[in-house]
Amino acid sequence: MVIPVKSEASSSVSEFVNPLSEPCVMVIFGASGDLTKRLLVPSLYNLACDDLLSPNFAVLGTGRSKLSNEAFRSSMASETTGLRAFHTRHEFDEVVSDELLARFYFESANIDVEDFTALKKTVQALDKKYQAGGNILFYFAMAPRFFGTLCENLHKAGFQEGIGWKRIIVEKPFGTNLQSALALNEEILQYWKEEQIYRVDHYLGKETVQNLLAFRFSNGMFEPLWNKHHIDNIQFNVCEAVDVQGRGGYYDQSGVLRDMMQNHMFQMLSYICMEPPGSFEADSIRNEKAKLLESVRIFADDEVPENVVRGQYGPAYDAHGDVVQSGYREEADVDPQSKTETFAAAKLHIDNLRWQGVPIYLRSGKALWKRSTEIVIEFKKPPETLFKGTGVQNLTSNRLVFHIQPFQGIDLLFQAKTPGPTMQLQGVDMSFNYGEAFKSSRYTGYEVMLYACSRGDATLFSRGDLVEAAWRIAQPLLDHWEVASAPEFPNYTRNSWGPKSAYELLEKDGRRWFEVVTPDVLEESPLFEGADPLLLSAVILALRPMTVAPGETIIRQGEVSTEMYFICRGEVDVLDLKGEIVNQLQDGQFFGEVALLLTTARTADVRAKTLCDLFVLSQNDFKRILRDHPQFAKKILQVAKDRYDLALSVNEFMTPRSDA
Ligand code: BG6
Repeated sequence: MVIPVKSEASSSVSEFVNPLSEPCVMVIFGASGDLTKRLLVPSLYNLACDDLLSPNFAVLGTGRSKLSNEAFRSSMASETTGLRAFHTRHEFDEVVSDELLARFYFESANIDVEDFTALKKTVQALDKKYQAGGNILFYFAMAPRFFGTLCENLHKAGFQEGIGWKRIIVEKPFGTNLQSALALNEEILQYWKEEQIYRVDHYLGKETVQNLLAFRFSNGMFEPLWNKHHIDNIQFNVCEAVDVQGRGGYYDQSGVLRDMMQNHMFQMLSYICMEPPGSFEADSIRNEKAKLLESVRIFADDEVPENVVRGQYGPAYDAHGDVVQSGYREEADVDPQSKTETFAAAKLHIDNLRWQGVPIYLRSGKALWKRSTEIVIEFKKPPETLFKGTGVQNLTSNRLVFHIQPFQGIDLLFQAKTPGPTMQLQGVDMSFNYGEAFKSSRYTGYEVMLYACSRGDATLFSRGDLVEAAWRIAQPLLDHWEVASAPEFPNYTRNSWGPKSAYELLEKDGRRWFEVVTPDVLEESPLFEGADPLLLSAVILALRPMTVAPGETIIRQGEVSTEMYFICRGEVDVLDLKGEIVNQLQDGQFFGEVALLLTTARTADVRAKTLCDLFVLSQNDFKRILRDHPQFAKKILQVAKDRYDLALSVNEFMTPRSDA
């Protein structure tokens, strides 16, 4: 298993010193592309800053452009499109950067045996100069259609010969369906051995994903609970706020199933659900991952619609119904009649002894109202009879939430008795926040992969059989969608929480998506923008879920209500004195914040336009939080003044209401 990159602050936890990456010449195909500048070079730079990069190391960039070594180095260093722009450290270190880039070279080459034979001579010269021991790391940062030819011609040019190891890192996507993945594996393995091939899935480079294994297997308390006897369901959310970002040509041939689920989400699924490996050796882990994916039920054609739903985003509109952002079908290089899914939700089944009967829900999409990747383990509820006759209405399940990104942490949600003479429960949280616990620099995720590959550790890379197993699960969905009539696309608006069908998928099982409100979501409200993380966490815990039927009034003009609302899913109309709609709010938006600060009559009606899932924060809970954390009260009053023009005194503001 890979040794994680050191944090910037020196670690007092362990005396263990990470060894250097192994000497090698790294040959990058497609070196003038985006991946090299944005991710590979910043990662090499991070390794160099952390003293993990071997001095016996050089980079040979190659591609069709004609570039001198100098021109290549300066484009990699550039302030706008190079390392100075894309590095992830707190401070930029000129010395390390200069020293690293001085080891960069470029040679123009076509993908043919003749040019590769010339390239081999350059690699040999660099090998000699840097004493790299004959080790060569090839990085394919090119379109997948070239992978086969690259493998063939590198082999024919004799790159396998001589001392030292030769390894190939292959970027995704690895195939576009089961058949093409099988064919690509066969083509590559005709010339190279499986142990020389390192297939990238950048999710495996994320610290929070690597931590899934550490969490499961280094904490003895969870393993006995990690099965169908104690876990009710597992939810994987990989939701993106971005749209296709100018990659319409690629995305329209792909869709979210190929782009996110079949690779990134299935990787996380296997980490969460696999059996404990015999050791942290690469193949020991990869064997368990493959076994797990092979246990996922392959759907028959008629099982697909009841277990999988899909969506495509349409435009975003303003309150007058005018388009403010275009929909997917209007994106550049996208077919105006496109049937490609930009959202999918699925219910998978793992047919093994550990997980039989535990539904595994996956949800992913683009142009959603927030970016958030998390995994929620929902435990079974205890029997409620014990609480009969007490003030406790119903119990909520314990949940373990892995926040993968952008917020990084782990929450364990449970219930505690609220102080007082009667038995009342309140949801509370044990929370671990990566940023607070480890003050390290941000990493790209690629440094750990480059480092691991140089050391011959394939744990973080996909093996051929794993990729094929993942495609086997996805293939019936692709086949079904190819011929079945698509739902009425577009079926969700931009910046919303996806199509209705995704909710129905769980509701028909009597379950709901567990919506995670993270501090960055709360900060969307002006009241909480820039607030202290402690305050934000306390507020998140005090949020109560509420469902409102279409047409129901949530806030009535003239009435005094003391709650703030947050729309998780749904749409509301805001109506003025004359009953005219003056605003429409939807997923991810807040309303009624002033009621947290001031007890006064409402100035507008707010009515649910669709079924709404809301989170509610009451003034009493808010004041309680501020009494518990008086250090934040002053700041909130300043915000009330600056953003809502409300001049309040601390005393008036903090006094609990008499009916509390
Ligand atoms: C890539 C997909 O593999 O992953 C993109 O091609 C997607 O469409 C990206 O946006 C998401 O990665 P991350 O690290 O931002 O979650």
